[in-house]
Order: sequence, then C-alpha cells, then structure tokens
Amino acid sequence: MDKTYLDKFYKMNHAERLNALVAAGSLTSDDLLLTNGLLLSDELADNMIENHLANYELPLGVALNFLVDGKDYVVPMAIEEPSVIAAASAGAKIIAQASGFKTTISERIMIGQVALKDVPDLTFAKNNLAQHKNNILKKANAAHPSIVKRGGGATDLFIRVIEADNEAGTPEFLMVHLHVSTLEAMGANIINTMMEGITTYLEELTGGSALMSILSNYATECLASALCQIPVDLLKRNGYSGEEVRDRLIEASQLAYVDPYRAVTHNKGIMNGIDAVVLASGNDWRAISAGAHAYASRNGQYRALSSWRKAENGDLIGQLTLPLPVGSVGGSISIHPAAQFSKRLLGDPSAKELESIIVSVGLAQNFSALKALVTEGIQKGHMGLQARSLAISAGATGADIEQVAEQLKTAKNMNLATAEALLKEIES
Ligand code: MEV
Repeated sequence: MDKTYLDKFYKMNHAERLNALVAAGSLTSDDLLLTNGLLLSDELADNMIENHLANYELPLGVALNFLVDGKDYVVPMAIEEPSVIAAASAGAKIIAQASGFKTTISERIMIGQVALKDVPDLTFAKNNLAQHKNNILKKANAAHPSIVKRGGGATDLFIRVIEADNEAGTPEFLMVHLHVSTLEAMGANIINTMMEGITTYLEELTGGSALMSILSNYATECLASALCQIPVDLLKRNGYSGEEVRDRLIEASQLAYVDPYRAVTHNKGIMNGIDAVVLASGNDWRAISAGAHAYASRNGQYRALSSWRKAENGDLIGQLTLPLPVGSVGGSISIHPAAQFSKRLLGDPSAKELESIIVSVGLAQNFSALKALVTEGIQKGHMGLQARSLAISAGATGADIEQVAEQLKTAKNMNLATAEALLKEIES
C-alpha cells in the first residue's frame, strides 16, 4: 500500500477519498463502481428480517495507519460516535511508528452446549458419555457433513456439572460441551444443527432430559491477542514527558483492573473500535460484545480487557486479549453490500486475519482513550468533533455547519443553546 496518497485524508471530499484509496492500492477501480450500491435494497432487507419497514443507517468510515503483523490496512468502521475513527487512526499512527501490532490468534474452536437435567446417576452418565465420545462426535459430524468435507467439524467433548442451587431454586445440570472447528464461519448454524443432532442420543446415554441445545457465545477457545510496544519518546503530550504519560497510562490500566465502575468504561472504549469493525464486516456484534464482557469477568470480577505495563527498556507495552469468533463467510457477510465492500477494503482477509485486525483496532482505541484521559482529558478532542453534530442539531445546513462548528469550538459554553444562537447570528 502506498500510504502517501492517504495524507490529509480527513480533509478530502468523498470522491477524493475513494480515489485516494484506489491510488494507495486499498481498492481497485472496479470496487469504486460498487460504492454506488452500498445501501441495502428494500428487497434484500425485506428478506433479511421479519416485518421490515425501512433501513436504519450508520456512517461507514475508515481508520488509517494500521500496521498489523507487518501488513498495512485501511480499516472499515460503522459507527455513529464522532471521535472513534479519529482516535483509532491517531493511536494506530503512533503504534505504527513503533513497528505496529503483533497478534496471536488461537485455533478457531467454537463451543456448543446441551443442558441435561434430571440425570438419575451422575457418575454413570459421565462414564457413559466418555465411553461413547467417538460415537457422539460421529453423530454431530453426520448432522452437518459439509463442514467435515471442508476439513472442520466436531473435535472434542467436555462435561461440566452445575450443582443444584437451593437459593436460586435451580436443579443440577449436566452440561455437555462440543468443541467444533467451524473454519471460516462464525458457525452458529453449524453448531446449533450439530447440538440438536446429538440431543436425543445424549438423553439416551445419560437418562437425563434436555432443556436446550445451543452454541455458547462465550467463545473461550477462539481467542485473539494484540500486543504493541511503544518507546516513550512517542508518548510526549501537552506538557507531559513521555515517561509521565507512560506511567499515568499504566496506572489508568491498573485502575480499570481493580475498579469495575472504571473497567466498564475502559472496555466500552475498546468495544467502540471492535464493534464498529465487527459491524462493518457483517459479523454479529452482539455475540462479540456478550463474549467480551463475560471474558472480562472470567476471574470472578469484571476487569479491564487490556493491560499496559513498562518494558525492561522503559517502553510502554500494551496487550489486549478477548474471544473473537468472527467469520469471513456466511450470514449477512455474503449478502450485505457494505460488508462485501469492507471485505474488499481489507484485502479479503481470512477469519483469523480479520481477528488480528479487529483486536488491534481495540488496542489502538484503548491507547488513544487512555492517553487523552491521563493528559488533557477527553472532552477537548470529543467536543471538537461533537461541534458539527451540535451545529446540525441547531438546524445548520451546508456551509453553515462548518461555520457554526468552528465558532462553537472557541465559545465559552459548547452546547445546543450556543449553537442555536450562533446560527441565528450567521443567518441574520
Ligand atoms: C467513550 O466512548 C469511550 C471512553 O470513555 C473510553 C474510556 O474512558 O477509556 C473515552
């Protein structure tokens, strides 16, 4: 990618931005033709959900400067919050100067569950399941032969006992977990079909009765990690030395480790970036969010998903790990025109490569947020971008938007009343 074409990208108009992406090598001129048709047609949307009325749109933009495992990316993000893309790009720019993100992606194994209750003899049931493990795996694979043909399928079986809880009034559950390699797919349908395919057999083997059979969105066997290491001379900011920014940022990460109230906001910032790419790529952002927040509580307390520490040579090291069961095929990925466009923009990545990009965006987002929070605060950057939204809320259109926004930035009170007053002045 020739990034020189992307200089001052934010100052370009739409056509210039698209042409710059072609010049830089992120898109082809054929892709450009397709951008005219990024909107969901009513026909397609009507076939995607029940009772369709209209399409609820979100802005689709790109974050720049992402260097992930030695490769440059322009990252599509679908998001309504004004500062997110700017913050991701700014964070990624500093991290790119420090050799970028290094990622580690685990094997992509998804989990399905059958919940059995009223099991008469738990020891017998567990032994019987263990003895018939191969048959269970065979039955699961027979329920979805196409994934097996492609080289995936059910690989392992685990048993968990959830004890009866008198206080909650819940019975004892015998949980049977199936581990499934879903290859390039997120795999919800594959797993649900397999779990329903083995339910009766599991009831026969255990003597229990199944309450439900469904995948688990807590994808602890599909983890993505990103790491970055930043020299302190890249951290200097607003009267703070690089060492001060590093140390304050580490303290901020420690605070989010010990205080759940702070951890939720810290992780929300990470998810600003993650959800926006997950959404742009046509993946299920509710599944990713639910899994991420459960992972943040894995040790019994809700904690920060990322951590920042000092390297032996004084650099700042950041790390983020979370479950990222995204797919590169299936669901709306294959039919939503904007998801298809995002895929081309990222160079048609595999599911693992997509995980690497997404986890890096989360870390960049967190880096930018913490750096601002522990130095000049978040409002300066936020409100600068919020100014345009306020101008529009006040009724400004066309060139007035920029004019009201510019004056708002230097006004004593940046709020709707000031925006309305400024607009009145301009109009008169
Ligand atoms: C705002 O959308 C996200 C932040 O609150 C994240 C954080 O506090 O770390 C800035």
